[in-house]
Amino acid sequence: MIEARGLMKNFGTSDGRVDVLRGIDLDIGRGERVGVVGTSGAGKTTLMHVLGGLDRPTGGTVRFDGTDIFTLKGAALDGFRNRTIGFVFQFHQLLPEFSALENVMMPALVARKSFREAIPMATELLEEVGLGHRIKHKPGQLSGGEQQRVAIARALVLSPRVLLADEPTGNLDSGTSGEIYRLLEQIHSTRELTMVIVTHSEALASRLDRVVLMVDGKVLS
Ligand SMILES: Nc1ncnc2c1ncn2[C@@H]1O[C@H](COP(=O)(O)OP(=O)(O)O)[C@@H](O)[C@H]1O
Ligand SMILES: [Mg+2]
Repeated sequence: MIEARGLMKNFGTSDGRVDVLRGIDLDIGRGERVGVVGTSGAGKTTLMHVLGGLDRPTGGTVRFDGTDIFTLKGAALDGFRNRTIGFVFQFHQLLPEFSALENVMMPALVARKSFREAIPMATELLEEVGLGHRIKHKPGQLSGGEQQRVAIARALVLSPRVLLADEPTGNLDSGTSGEIYRLLEQIHSTRELTMVIVTHSEALASRLDRVVLMVDGKVLS
């Protein structure tokens, strides 16, 4: 389903050029759950951004079901990304001024769904992630685990085919992390979802279908 070939990414900085991705080939099958592990600075976050079309590679291609996504121009790429991919970030990146419900509705409203459509979709998802009793709370009134559940619900609101999660439990204690993993497993089992999860947790990685190790901008296995 996802085919990355020869991905390169470098950044120009005041100290010169940094090569962050140095030739990555990766195939991910439909419905597969793939873990990405590697030390800090290995390029995991950059890889997720490129796989999800948030950031253009300096070289190489990413194909989704055969479509080379970076041949899509601005609005077409945005549309593809919104329909196809849900992102969960390490720092949940919820909007602090808005309630859980409003945060989850946001991608639907941006995709021009009406409030009448978006409210029940978002409510149902918050119930699915176990937060039916917290929909009016703002992020600051929620625990870290609850915030990440809201972020997961938000990532799912447009029914993506792929969920990309970048250290979704990186800031949570081990008990709360375990609950988030179980939630991700539940979500995977109830929908046809392909998942790529960057994790520091061996416990989570061992429960996925496959784990790839990133070292210094390359994939080792
Ligand atoms: N926008 C950027 N400009 C310059 N360097 C960057 C940028 N983004 C990431 N890097 C560098 O790329 C390397 C890999 O970063 P990242 O993908 O965040 O790694 P990881 O998620 O594995 O910790 C780091 O050395 C980081 O400093
Ligand atoms: Mg990272």
